[in-house]
Amino acid sequence: MLDSQLSSEVLPQHIAIIMDGNGRWAKERGKPRVFGHKKGVDAVRNTITTASKLGINAITLFAFSSENWRRPEEEVGVLMELFITVLSSEVKRMHRNNLRLQIVGDVSRFSQRLQNKIEQAEALTKNNTGMVLNVAANYGGKWDITQATKHLAHQVAKGQLAPEDITEEMLGQHVMMSDLPDVDLLIRTSGECRISNFLLWQMAYAEMYFTPIYWPEFGEDSLIEAISWFVNRERRFGCTGEQIKQLMEK
Ligand code: IPE
Ligand code: IPE
Ligand code: MG
Repeated sequence: MLDSQLSSEVLPQHIAIIMDGNGRWAKERGKPRVFGHKKGVDAVRNTITTASKLGINAITLFAFSSENWRRPEEEVGVLMELFITVLSSEVKRMHRNNLRLQIVGDVSRFSQRLQNKIEQAEALTKNNTGMVLNVAANYGGKWDITQATKHLAHQVAKGQLAPEDITEEMLGQHVMMSDLPDVDLLIRTSGECRISNFLLWQMAYAEMYFTPIYWPEFGEDSLIEAISWFVNRERRFGCTGEQIKQLMEK
């Protein structure tokens, strides 16, 4: 076969993941839902390491949606604590690995303590030149487009912009992650096939990959499989997971 040596150019530049199924994974093991969330952190760590070894430019993880506040107060509380813990324990490692961390979403609803942690983590990693890791927290695709619209509306109100001059590019400059390429590949675990108000604008042309496995079980091979699927769809030739793995740095 011609392409036994695959080039990293065929890989998706920006991968977004809806990390779903923590609760069901735990329930099936007779454990409380929060056990699944805790286990899900290992899958996050694995995914980041694998993506970064592959030289993926950006990865965006859906950690908490604007709708997730409707969950029982106790579960929301545990999730918030988990964010704080993970931010404290993982950020140094991310920094060592040259990753740039960004939280995307309306952080104003989080506790001051969490907002401070977020600010510190972003400040520490902001000049890093490796993979960009976006964590979507209190994020909603509709919220994102709405906040971008408000930016333009302010310009119109100030007389700096005429409504008929508004372009897609202008709106695109105000949605989250406007400095990054649009999402090429969306992955959702747990068998659900919906977007759940995740990135809307940025996923206009994304390939969508749905896998039945629950998020806590999503490992290196799962990511490689999703990426091989993407490469095979985009390029319409056959490549194997092994070839993708060869692109990983030692
Ligand atoms: C995804 O797992 C994690 C978050 C939404 C924070 P779920 O908690 O949605 O797990 P299921 O879908 O109920 O199994
Ligand atoms: C989407 O999962 C949000 C995250 C993964 C953070 P949900 O489990 O909350 O989505 P729905 O409610 O099933 O659509
Ligand atoms: Mg769910």
